[in-house]
Amino acid sequence: MRILIINGPNLNLLGRREPGIYGNETMDVCIQKLRDCYANDQIEYFQSNHEGAIIDKLHEVGFDEQYTGIVLNAGAYTHTSLAIADAIAAIKLPVVEVHISNVHARETVRHHSMISGVCKGVIAGFGLDSYRLAIEALSAK
Ligand code: DQA
Repeated sequence: MRILIINGPNLNLLGRREPGIYGNETMDVCIQKLRDCYANDQIEYFQSNHEGAIIDKLHEVGFDEQYTGIVLNAGAYTHTSLAIADAIAAIKLPVVEVHISNVHARETVRHHSMISGVCKGVIAGFGLDSYRLAIEALSAK
């Protein structure tokens, strides 16, 4: 498998950001664990705080059939970005929407996702293990 994990805004602060919600582990550690777990696969990682950069990355990789799929935690853009939803709809690769926290147990504004309807599926609420579960979902395709 070749998987691209994309993280959106503020997710560069994992480990330091609201640890009661997002835990103490950094994304570097999470990616290393995933690479150890999927030693025969390619796990690539991209993070940006900028909506357009996330869209550019979806366009860049989204037609490349060497990839199995994309795991996307769009952060707060999940709840606001029609442009990211359009980009997901435009590309060929399957995208799994991921959230570290259970967004449905949080503020009402986080209950609606602009992107769920164009994603293959949604995984939320399992901490950083949500990323592994999303990879598992893509591996079953
Ligand atoms: C998040 C949930 C979003 O509501 C929030 O804006 C984030 C992180 C999560 O992984 O739980 O930045 O996507």
